[in-house]
Amino acid sequence: MGSISGVSLLLLVVSVSFLASPSVQGGKILVFPVDGSHWVNMNVLIQGLHARGHEVTVVRSATSWYVKEHAPHYRSITITLPEAISIEEEDFFVTLLVKMLEIKKQGASLIAFVNFYWEILTMLSKIHQQASLLGVEIFENKTLLQSIRDAQFDMVLLDPGLPVGVVVAHELKLPTVFNVRWITSGEGHFVVAPSPISYVPTSGYAASDKMNFLERLKNAFHFALNTCIDKFIVCPHYDKLIEKYFGPDVKFYHLLQGADIWLMRVDFVFEFPRPTMPNIVYIGGFQCKPSEPLSSELEEFVQSSGEHGFILMSLGTLVKGLPTEITSEIAAAFAKLPQKVIWRHAGEPPDNLGNNTLLVKWMPQNNLLGHPKIKAFVAHGGTNGIYEAIYHGVPILGIPLLFDQFENILKMEVRGAAKMVDAAHLDRHNFLEAIQEVLNNPSYRNSMKHLSALHHDKPVHPLETALYWIEFVMRHKGATHLRTESFKMPCYIYKM
Ligand SMILES: *[C@@H]1O[C@H](CO)[C@@H](O)[C@H](O)[C@H]1NC(C)=O
Ligand SMILES: *[C@@H]1O[C@H](CO)[C@@H](O)[C@H](O)[C@H]1NC(C)=O
Repeated sequence: MGSISGVSLLLLVVSVSFLASPSVQGGKILVFPVDGSHWVNMNVLIQGLHARGHEVTVVRSATSWYVKEHAPHYRSITITLPEAISIEEEDFFVTLLVKMLEIKKQGASLIAFVNFYWEILTMLSKIHQQASLLGVEIFENKTLLQSIRDAQFDMVLLDPGLPVGVVVAHELKLPTVFNVRWITSGEGHFVVAPSPISYVPTSGYAASDKMNFLERLKNAFHFALNTCIDKFIVCPHYDKLIEKYFGPDVKFYHLLQGADIWLMRVDFVFEFPRPTMPNIVYIGGFQCKPSEPLSSELEEFVQSSGEHGFILMSLGTLVKGLPTEITSEIAAAFAKLPQKVIWRHAGEPPDNLGNNTLLVKWMPQNNLLGHPKIKAFVAHGGTNGIYEAIYHGVPILGIPLLFDQFENILKMEVRGAAKMVDAAHLDRHNFLEAIQEVLNNPSYRNSMKHLSALHHDKPVHPLETALYWIEFVMRHKGATHLRTESFKMPCYIYKM
């Protein structure tokens, strides 16, 4: 009896210690990131992987503006593109924004609108062409390809916003994990999970999950538009690559849909509920962490706000600055508030700043959002900022400018945690009214605190979840058992 329980105790100890140390020691991971704000969150995953003893190699282009060649936590492979069209990203987005504001303000002539749209699509096409050329460079450089093979990677981690990594992973016969919210045609769910457009708003259309008939019609239109853009503008670049190196039997879309695990940068406190799939893992907010103390100057400034507290304003990394007509209106409104304001601002400073407003080039956003004196966050509605605001429970005044920012702010507005102002029609009066509403009506703060409590109430931090599934894929050399067959079907079979 005693010996039996001794054996089972031993078994128990063995299995428990097995469970307690699930890490795959020294896995080797090849990463294809997307530059810009996407890199910021990919880098968080890479740091996590490095801290767990994995070896990470990042593929970057020589013209990358965020992904550094040398870093303590990863190695890099730098690819020089022969015909690198230098995309002056920052200038491009500022010009784009100025044009868009103009169109919105003047109720756009059709020609101006078409021109504007055409410019965006041309840019989109160029960006994907560059990404596909990265693949060509890798496949054509036999020394490089061999050295990648010799490195014996265990898996490929990629951001399928620029999905060239799936093609390289196919060549290397490696399992893939996506760090994803966007794929080529919009939100990632749309290509792997059933997405009824009756209640799932399409990317590019800011609507809630309760749409009336007209809204559903618009939603269907946006869905068709996204599909066309994907089919005719984005995918041909990758189809060409596939055709050249793998022949007609391999389909780019099957590679894209066939990823082993989708680490989805989504939390349903933010997104509307919708159908999902067993290989989609939700890691929304994985980049969030507790705040740390401020520098003594900032702390002094923040403390000087007294009982009124302070407001934080940042429009993100992509758009360097708003036109001065708008910033001077914002400055005038801020000057009327009893709160202090910290404003991350890169362009020309407005000349009518109130003495309560501090302009900074950079700020420790997470530490400020976590400060007990913060009252509101004026933001453009990029997801990194929104998740940090949810994490710290800070209500948002949104000034969406481009892309998904309109949908993001709308989602927070539907949840009662944000208010939106339209940049094209912003003036000191309506901006002041909006910020005072967010500051003085407690419902915004209360709704955000509630979302924050829901977001925090998880068995493990989403970063742990992400690292767990990456290691899962390395342990089992994929996760194909979680993948549905739907992705291999032509759509006429899928539908019946
Ligand atoms: C091929 O890759 C190797 C290793 O990364 C690099 O040193 C070399 O310059 C590349 N050759 C060409 C032609 O790009
Ligand atoms: C800031 O400006 C307000 C109103 O213009 C004025 O009452 C206040 O004394 C000023 N504070 C400082 C510290 O200069």
